[in-house]
Formats: sequence, C-alpha cells, structure tokens
Amino acid sequence: MLKNIDPVETHAWKKLGQCHTALKKQHIKTLFAEDPSRFSKFSARFEDMLVDYSKNLLDEETLQTLLDLAQECELPDAIERMFSGDKINELEKRAVLHTALRNRSNEPVLVDGQDVMPEVNRVLQQVKEFSENVINGNWKGYTGKPIKSIVNIGIGGSDLGPYMVTEALKPYQKPHLQAFFVSNIDGTHLAEVLKKVDPETTLFFIASKTFTTQETMTNAASAKKWFLEFAKNEKEVAKHFVAISTNLEAVKAFGIAEENMFVFWDWVGGRFSLWSSIGLSIACVLGYENFVQLLDGAHAMDNHFRKTELRQNIPVLLALIGIWYTDFFGACTEVLLPYNQYMHRFPAYFQQANMESNGKSVNRNGRPVSYKTGPVVWGEPGVNGQHAFYQLIHQGTELIPADFLVPANSQNPLGEHHEILLSNFIAQTEALMNGKTMEEVTEELRKEGLSEAEIEELAPFKVFAGNKPTNSILFKKLDPRTLGSIIAMYEHKIYVQGIIWNIYSFDQWGVELGKQLAKKVLPELKNEEEITSHDSSTNGLINAWKAMRR
Ligand code: F6P
Repeated sequence: MLKNIDPVETHAWKKLGQCHTALKKQHIKTLFAEDPSRFSKFSARFEDMLVDYSKNLLDEETLQTLLDLAQECELPDAIERMFSGDKINELEKRAVLHTALRNRSNEPVLVDGQDVMPEVNRVLQQVKEFSENVINGNWKGYTGKPIKSIVNIGIGGSDLGPYMVTEALKPYQKPHLQAFFVSNIDGTHLAEVLKKVDPETTLFFIASKTFTTQETMTNAASAKKWFLEFAKNEKEVAKHFVAISTNLEAVKAFGIAEENMFVFWDWVGGRFSLWSSIGLSIACVLGYENFVQLLDGAHAMDNHFRKTELRQNIPVLLALIGIWYTDFFGACTEVLLPYNQYMHRFPAYFQQANMESNGKSVNRNGRPVSYKTGPVVWGEPGVNGQHAFYQLIHQGTELIPADFLVPANSQNPLGEHHEILLSNFIAQTEALMNGKTMEEVTEELRKEGLSEAEIEELAPFKVFAGNKPTNSILFKKLDPRTLGSIIAMYEHKIYVQGIIWNIYSFDQWGVELGKQLAKKVLPELKNEEEITSHDSSTNGLINAWKAMRR
C-alpha cells in the first residue's frame, strides 16, 4: 500500500510557500549572474544525455526543500513499491510493472508470490519469432505473398505508444515494411488506410488490453469484413489477423485463434504498454533488435530512477520542478517541444500518459485535493511551434514551463539545416529566460531611427518579460536506446508527481462517463423518433442531426 500523506501538511510544503515568496521576485538571469557555476550545479547527465534544468526559477534552498517534500511524502518507499510489484494501483487491486517488461537484468519480480519474468520472456520470444518471420518473408498471406503492410488497430495506449515510437525511429524501419495506425472510430481513418494497403500482403494487429473498446472492436470488425471481401474464406483470417490483449475469451469470440494472440497482463497499464506485446508493430517494423534496444534504454533509466539519490535523480528532479510551478506559481500547463521532426507524436503520447494518470482531483483518502495536480500537457515539434504558439509563451498571461528535447546529431544531415534548428532551440531558451527590457527595446528602436514619440508608442508591445522556465534535454542521437531512456524518464516523472500529489496515477475512471453516455445515445441516433430524454441542448443536437442527415 502506498502511504497516504497530504503534501500540504508537510513541513517542506509550508517552507516552499516561503521560498516562493522570495523567488517570485527574482529573475532567472539574475540567478545566473550571481552564480557562474549555476549550469554545472543545475544540470545532470545520463549516458549520452544532458538534462539542463538551470534555466528555472530555482535556487539550491528551494531545490533542497522540494527534495525534502519528496522525502516527507516517502517517495523512496513508493519507488521501491512500484518496482517490487506492490499493488500500487490500489483501486483496481493491481501491480504496476511496466518496468518488468524491460527488466533486462531478469531478476525476479513477484506478483502474488509469482515471478512474472518467465512469462515476460516467453512473450518476448514470441514477439521475436513472429517479427523475424514477418521481416524475412516467412509469414505469408493467403495467396502466398510475404507481408508488406502492418495495420495496428487500437486506441489510446494501444495506439499512441507504438505509433509514436515507429515514427520517432523511422530511420530504423525495414524498407520493405510499412506501418499504419488506425485509432479513430471516424470511418475515414480506416477507409484511408485501406486505400493504401493490399489485402494479400497486409497484417492487422488488433491491439486492445480489454478487447472490448468500442472504437477498436468496430474498426477491427470493419477491417475483417473488408479483408473477407477479397479472401472470401474465414479460415484465411488466421494469416492476416493477430490479437494483442489480456482478454483471451474476447479474442476467441472475435475469431482470432489463440496461437495468433500475444498476451500481456493486468499489471501493464494501457498508457505504459508499448513495452509489452503492444509493441509488436515496433518489433515488426523496426526489427526485434531495435525493440530490445528500446527496452534496454528504458531499463537503464529504470535503474537510474531506482538507485540514484534524489538530488541526482533526473525523473525526480523534473517532477519536482513541475510541482514547483504547478502548485506554487499556479501554472496550469506544460509544453513539450521536441526539436526533431521524427518525434512529432511524442507530445501526444505524453499528453495521454500525463493527463490520464494525474488528471485527478481526489486524493488517496477519497477526498478532494486542496492543491493543483496534473497540468495540461501538449506540444509540437520545434521550430513549427515558434511560428504558431510561442507568442503566447513569450508574451501571454500564462506561465508555461517548457521542455526542449533536442538530438545533437541529425539523421538527415542536409546543408546547414541542423545548425539552424539548433540555433533556434538555443535562442528560444535564452529568449524565454532573458526577455527584453524596456531599456533594451528603446535602445534598439533608437538605432533603427525611430522618433522618441514613435518609440514611446511602440516600445511596450516589444518588451518581453522573460523569466520563463525551460528544461533542455540534449542527447547525442535519437536511437532506440536513447528513446527508451527518454520515455522511461517521463514515465517516472509522472509517477513521482502522483506520489507527491497523493493521488492514484494508474486508474482512469474519468474516461468512463462519456463511454456510458455514448452507449445510451447510440440507439437514440438509430431510431426515427424525436428525442426528449436529455436536456434541451442535447435533445436539440440529436434532433438537428437527424434532420440534417435526411
Ligand atoms: O478509455 C481510455 C482507455 O481505457 C485508455 O486508458 C486505454 O489506453 C485505451 O482506452 C484503450 O484501451 P484498450 O487497450 O483496452 O482498448
């Protein structure tokens, strides 16, 4: 059981209030001016990665107090509980062991007294053999042709992880295999993918932990129907449909044989499942060896998280910095800015991981929290965001702490593209911190030859307050190992925050209500009657839709 500690009641929380009173009057650039060694004090290294958190409104005393908060909330105990298979997803009575899926040490991990590693390794072996057969052409479609396309049908955690990883690691993709990801129930998503694939050479992975998710099951049924229009024979389904799930009965009921099923377990949360057989599309498209590299990188970060003292512990530091802004500066959001086009789905992936985990307002006592919890997480690749929404980060009224993720080396060196990209990353973090004062603006405008009257009119709009916090995560190259480490780093950040906020991070009751109501609405859409069972807006929308579709 996790400890139940209200963070607001800790000594550290109270002291952080005082730290905030002092620091909110400070400017980050002054902290640099006062301490020439600030960068080395407030940065950390992990393998080929540098995490620079010095451009934060943070001093040593505050950081120490945040670390005290973590201690008072018994974070080290919580970390150990997760790794050792304690049922920390208490409301669902489940362990939380995505770390066991990448436990490359193979040390036993016990759930209810049973070591899960033999099963983990058995499924990994199954993933290995299957992916090798697909890649080397041994797995044949119903007309004897090798596979060219993989269509992963899943949603949420059964989609975002494999999609994000296969995109991020595109340079490692097998050239003769293409991956497609269908998640949306909007028929357009499936229809557009089916236009691009050939039934004779396509494998469908039906990825769903529960195998009951309406969107996935509907897409899967439509894909099967499409396939059978060509293959004509139900027995050919076995050569083209594979299930990835925890629910054997539902898989069988759908018509997928047990031997075409890849299992995982209830102790794998959907949004943490890319390391399980949900990653089958990753192994098939990138090769099993690269999937293993991804696991290795995550395992290395797991070891760092489990064994490194809190002051040097990167996920812990990132989590505490996030809490500092969320709970003491009132920040409502955080932005993820990968300066890498391959990582274009990375913010979306961590949007789910963060917001489904820590979007909670009831503490572990079942009472409303008296402080803010999970921020809104979003983002886009740099530099595109610079030409879209950075305006608000620089000059808007919201405080938006930003994480910049940047590979030192491009996988597509092209002229000076990468240097330009990097110069923009560096410039943005500097600009966000330094801003531009009225004096600087005035001076600049004078040099441009503007009159004093013009300067007076224009200058206020050109001032940047600066003092906007950023973390910079610079890594050598976006290879599978590094990506594994980065994903694990952010996963652990989420866990640390959930522990300190005294919430349960591994359930997601908040997604249920909409699902229930949709089930009630669906039959109402199918009949011809006028609907009166809801509020007037909902009735009005349903009835207007019925009128429009006639
Ligand atoms: O509705 C939310 C959710 O349960 C997510 O937590 C999950 O990742 C997604 O739906 C898909 O669930 P499943 O893998 O069971 O289809």
